[in-house]
Parts: sequence; structure tokens; C-alpha cells
Amino acid sequence: IDVAVKADGGNATNGHQYGFLHEDINNSGDGGLYAELVRNRAFQSSYSFEANLEAWYSLGGAQLSLKKLDKPLSKALASSMNVAAGPGGYPATIGFYNDGYWGMDVKKAHKYSGSFWVKGKYDGHFTASFRSNITGDIFGSAKVQSSCTPDKWTEHTYELRPERDAPNSNNTLAITFDSAGVDGSLDFNLISLFPPTYKGRKNGMRIDIAEALEQLHPTLFRIPGGNMLEGQTNTSWWDWKDSLGPLTERPGFGGVWKYPQTHGLGLMEYLEFSEDLGMELIVGVYSGLSLNGDITPKDKLQPFIDDALDQIEFIRGPVDSKWGARRAELGHPKPFKLRYVEIGNEDWLAGRPTGWQTYKDYRFPMFLEAINAAHPDIQVIASGSTFDGHDIPKPAAGDYHLYAVPDTLIKQFNRFDNLETPHLIGEMAATHPNGGLGFNGPMQPWPWWSGAVAEAVGLISYERNHDRIIGAAYAPVLKSLDRWQWPITIIQHAADPALTTRSTSWFVWELFAGHIFTESLPASSKTPFGPLFYVTGRNEVTGGHIFKGAVFNSTDNADVPVRITFEGVKAGTQAELTLLTGPEDPYGYNDPWTGVNVVETTKTSVTADADGVFSFDMPDLSVAVLDTAPK
Ligand code: AHR
Repeated sequence: IDVAVKADGGNATNGHQYGFLHEDINNSGDGGLYAELVRNRAFQSSYSFEANLEAWYSLGGAQLSLKKLDKPLSKALASSMNVAAGPGGYPATIGFYNDGYWGMDVKKAHKYSGSFWVKGKYDGHFTASFRSNITGDIFGSAKVQSSCTPDKWTEHTYELRPERDAPNSNNTLAITFDSAGVDGSLDFNLISLFPPTYKGRKNGMRIDIAEALEQLHPTLFRIPGGNMLEGQTNTSWWDWKDSLGPLTERPGFGGVWKYPQTHGLGLMEYLEFSEDLGMELIVGVYSGLSLNGDITPKDKLQPFIDDALDQIEFIRGPVDSKWGARRAELGHPKPFKLRYVEIGNEDWLAGRPTGWQTYKDYRFPMFLEAINAAHPDIQVIASGSTFDGHDIPKPAAGDYHLYAVPDTLIKQFNRFDNLETPHLIGEMAATHPNGGLGFNGPMQPWPWWSGAVAEAVGLISYERNHDRIIGAAYAPVLKSLDRWQWPITIIQHAADPALTTRSTSWFVWELFAGHIFTESLPASSKTPFGPLFYVTGRNEVTGGHIFKGAVFNSTDNADVPVRITFEGVKAGTQAELTLLTGPEDPYGYNDPWTGVNVVETTKTSVTADADGVFSFDMPDLSVAVLDTAPK
């Protein structure tokens, strides 16, 4: 297949074609990206979960009970754990332990930052230790002198440096004390332990997961959902204000994915993460519709619009504005960059058909007008798409979500050409195998190779239209191997970092996002698209001319010969060809339990011949990037 690429005639790109959505699903926040090791650290309750003692166990016969004290730690953290000596008072050392998000990784090289709040009278010291949940072996401990008093909650902080690595992640954090020094019993709350975090941020992200995301070279970050933003009811959506400030002020969130959330991974943490990775933000604001179909009537919508304006002000307002000042108080005087705001999430899905009807009739227009008036430079995005038959009023963009069989991604290749309304691809992944299974059929257990190649074709179709496609976000991005509901995610994780697994899709997204166009270049060929799909461009920073291609289902699975010329690129120019190929089985996947990576990455040097032609073969089900100036 001959492809001739012109030297000009394309468009400057926005530079953020590849990224992901993060919401707390699959324990991808608490127990995932958010580095906290202690589960149920503050006995939080919400509309869907009563406070409880899950993950807490007694030591030394101590009696643990949940209390709602007249003097709680804070209004937000109203429940706490009372610890009393068992009958008889022996043994003297009592306490409790927590088994974490299904284990804790204990490394000698790490310094862990611990804290807990206590109320009660105790003269003595506490001991915080890492213990094996199997043998009881202690891997390291810290002495913490008590400074607690009966009438006031007191925070105790400590550093825990293990003396050795634990052989596996089935470990706990134990806190013990001498019951003889206690007058009565002690009340505990907000018992927290952090390993070192990504970029050393306080209350930050788990390093290995953050790095696996960073290595995807993401440039687009859609937060905070997804369904999480909507919440179950219109009094229980993900309220960004509850996620700000000291942890003592964060009440916890019932979530929508059947597990309680701490609010620890809050708006500020998301914003800082976005800044750390250099990602363009797409911030979702609550639109007055929740998952149970609760719709806010027109005369009650204004407070939500005001709230969205406050949220925007918090993110990018000047320090002398009310919410900009709050952001500064929380340590970030400099406004964050925010150019995209999405109103709600999938408003066509919940409360059908009234959900979209009311969105169209008044909810979206009211948000659009208010945001455009206050922030004319912000691109407002509606939560539906023209592809799903929804009208998107100007000057808004749409959002298209696509969880599809590979064939759908291929069939839709031309769908985005000549688009009138700009769109975000706010959620996408190949999730179901080909063979007639619709969205409701079973998902694959993991991203698989032919699905990943189909995603490459989808990404090419978006990038070919980057002047109208704001970018594409993989979703959902993370899955805890210990508790999840959505199998297909780009990275899998567990307490043990050795299980952090980059899926087949990860390799495709990493490759494409690692070669950014600053300008697209038009390409022509006598051969129509399929089985070879491609997009071409240039990076003016590196000076590279770039071809991104994928081969999906070639005739008789034969290799596809590619011959490509870039106008103005001379004979003898060298380019790096990165070729991704998969296993023989197109359903092959990267299994965390075996650690085997089925994606083969081959890098070769290709030289333009006397006619300036770069020639190479692409096998069936392969993905490639040719770049004359790789970084
Ligand atoms: O990504 C999983 C869910 O799929 C999102 O929360 C929702 O927006 C979509 O339906």
C-alpha cells in the first residue's frame, strides 16, 4: 500500500488527543490510585453505607465497638472506634489491626507516614507495627508517645520504617498499647498510613499506579466520572466541596459502585495529579440528574448552576475571588488551567426518556448560558452525542461514549469525518468480543489483543479528525483485582505492586500518545482504508514526520506491505519503526497472575530509499508508529 504524505494542508492539533477518565469504580481510587493503606480509616457513613468496623480486628482480647460520641472528632467524622480491655484485663497489651485494601505492601526501603486521633486518658506509648496476616511476624514498628486527654481529640503522628521487606502483601497495620496505663477505654478515629507517594505529595497517589498512568503519556484527564459524578440521588451526588481540605472535614461518599469512598481522593488531589502529569482537564459538573432518575426541576436548578460556577472559580479563579482564595488556602494560589467543562454525565441514560428531554429543554441550556457568560473561553461539553441522536446546541461540543466490539470500532472509522459538532470521546474501550454480542453481552475478562488493535483503529479515526475531536479518554482506567465490577480496564492492580499489570491496550495507547502531532498532514493512497488504517502528521518540536497505523483483519492474515513518502523528507533519512504485535490467539491478554506480556514491541530503523520511500511490512493485527525523529 503506497501512502503519500503532503508537507502541508493539515491543521495544528490541540496536543491532547489521548487520556483517560478517572472515577472511583473497581476500587480504583480508594484501594487504587489513592495511596492510603488503611481501609475504613474513619468509620464513615453515607446514604448507602452505615458506619461499621469492617477491616478492623481486635488484638489481645480488646473489645472494639463503634461509637457516635457527643464529642466526635469532627462534624464530618461522626463515628469512631472505642477500644477497651477485654474481661479480666489480660494480657496487658491490647489493640487492633487493619488488613488494608486486601493487604499492604511492606518494603524496608520505604518510610511510611502514620497518624491517628485518640480521645481518652492514657499514660504510656502506642506501638504501630506492620505484621504478617499469616504468621504474625513483625516487619517493623514505631513507638508513639501518648499525648491524649479525655476531653479532646489529639492527633498522633509517626514514621514507620520496616526493618525488612515482607515476603508478600498479606500484611496488616497493628496499633497496640498498654491497657494498664488507660483510664477506662480509648476512642480512635482517622487511623491513616501512607507509603511514599507519587512526587511526594501529602495525601497523594500510589507510586507504581501513578507511574503506570504517567508512562501512558496522557494529555487528557476527565474527572470525576462517569456515574460517580451523578451519584445515586439528587442529594447524594459527588459534591466536590466535601472533598476539600483536611481529612477530618471530608465526610465520605456512598459512591455508586457498591463500596464506600473516603473522599480522600478529592478535587484538589485530582487537580494536582493533572498538573503533575501535564494533562488537559475535562471537569464534569453535576447537572441535576442522578442515577436513580432524580431530575431537578427548572425552578430548583439555579443552586446547581451556581455551584458549578463556584467549582470553576475554585479551579481557575484569581486568589482574590472567594473560591480562588480557598484554593490558595489549600496550597495552590496559582489557578489551574481549565478549558473544558462537561455538564453532567450520560444524561441520556438515567431517567430515560425524561433525563435527556429535561437536559435538552432547560438543564443544559441554563448551564451553557451561565458558563459561557462568565467564562467565554471555556468549551462547554454536553453529555450526549449527535451519534446517539442528540442535538447539541452551539457552541457546545458533544461527548460520545463507546464500549464496543472491535468490529464496531472498525465500522465507525469514517464516522468522524466532516463532523459539524465537535466531540469529546469521553469514554471508550473495546469491551466485548466480536460475534454479535451487544453491549449487554458478557465483557471479556481483560483487554485482549484484537480489541486493543481495534482501539488503535478507533484512535486513528479520532486523530484524523483532531480539529473536531477534542480527544479520547480510555475508561474505566483501573481495576483492583480484589474488588471490581467492570472487568475491562487499561491497568490492573492489587496491594502487591508486582501485580500492577499493563494490559494489551496500554501498549497501544502508550505508543500512539508517545508520538504527538503538533500538526496533521494529509495523506493519500490509491488503496482505500482497511485492513490498513493510518493517520500522519508532524511534530514541530522534534522535527519528526510521523505515521501511525494499524492492520485489522487482512485477507488470509497476510502481512501488509507499507510504502510511505513524506513530501520534503529526503532519500537516506532514517526513521524509527515501532511495531506492536500480539499473540497467535487474538483473544490473548496480559494476565496479572502469570505476569506474561503477550504484546511484542519491536523497534527497527527504516531508511528512506532513493525515492524517499520508507518500506516495511505490517503483520495482521499489528500497530505501528514510524517517526523520523523519535524522542
Ligand atoms: O466507565 C464506566 C461507566 O460507563 C461510567 O461511569 C459511565 O459514564 C458509563 O456508563
